[in-house]
Amino acid sequence: MSVVLVTGSEGQLGVALEATFKARPFFVPLFCSKSMLDITDGDQIEACIKTHSVQYIINCAAYTNVQRAEQEAATCFKVNSLAVGCLAALAEKYGIVLFHISTDYVFGLTKGRPLSPNDPTDPLNQYGQSKRAGEQMVVARATHFYIIRTAWLYGEKGDNFFTKMVAWAQKGDVIEMVDDQIGSPTYVYDLATAIWEIVEKIAKNNLADYPSGIYHYTNEGVASWYDFAYAIATALPNRCAVIPRSSAAVGLKRPYYSVLNKSSFRSVFQIKIPHWQDSLSLCVTKWKNQ
Ligand SMILES: NC(=O)c1ccc[n+]([C@@H]2O[C@H](COP(=O)([O-])OP(=O)(O)OC[C@H]3O[C@@H](n4cnc5c(N)ncnc54)[C@H](OP(=O)(O)O)[C@@H]3O)[C@@H](O)[C@H]2O)c1
Repeated sequence: MSVVLVTGSEGQLGVALEATFKARPFFVPLFCSKSMLDITDGDQIEACIKTHSVQYIINCAAYTNVQRAEQEAATCFKVNSLAVGCLAALAEKYGIVLFHISTDYVFGLTKGRPLSPNDPTDPLNQYGQSKRAGEQMVVARATHFYIIRTAWLYGEKGDNFFTKMVAWAQKGDVIEMVDDQIGSPTYVYDLATAIWEIVEKIAKNNLADYPSGIYHYTNEGVASWYDFAYAIATALPNRCAVIPRSSAAVGLKRPYYSVLNKSSFRSVFQIKIPHWQDSLSLCVTKWKNQ
């Protein structure tokens, strides 16, 4: 059985991968948190690969604090670029298939149409630049890789937009939310399920049927942060007021339109992608039942 190493396993996506893993005859997962495996330590990663005969890596480890990255650029680049380059080189050395997660923050001020994997990138901040540099390292150093760009991840657990909204609603806060930043909310468990499906397809079939490259995955549909906040607020038992604001008034540095075009993901992997409103309903139901 092939071993699938999941790095950064205590983060939002890592936790979702653990929760959605279903026993399969083809592979076993090895979930490693930051305290177990620091991706900036190349020797530690190589030892882990050799000890466990790792054949797949799903890299969920990342520096993700977008605001703090402006002050801690060196640390951010160390994790999101240099360490990713090391992972890619080790993947190449040991014939490992590398899944690396990236972000819509690699794009800049775009033109209001869904962005394809080959569209030009132009990150607006340190986090986006570090993630783009990480992507470039993977492309340059690895042969078998899948870079999956995603956006607006949330779920019923952990620290994310949904759980923040729940906390604000419980306090009865009035929430101001930008209505001029457009993207696709993505239920982290949908992404995790899709990643496992891809690993299974690759393990069962011919790797060449699934070309290495950059792919986009978000839930279907489009929303502003205001739309998303409003949809959450109206689904919660403690309703709260959500007021639209412009980005200029709030001063956020983020792509205005980062809807990702998922055509190549759909056609290569043949995986059905749920609409964000359906996944949000599921998230609310799970949150109520937990
Ligand atoms: N969240 C989103 O909305 C979003 C959107 C687009 C793309 N993404 C991408 O999706 C991936 C997963 O994001 P996420 O939301 O799961 O992030 P997350 O919750 O911040 O998880 C990242 C995990 O990586 C760990 N980590 C940090 N430095 C590490 C290191 N040197 N070695 C090993 N682990 C390390 C973190 O540990 P500590 O917390 O202890 O530092 C954390 O457990 C990332 O690549 C991110 O860029 C996220």
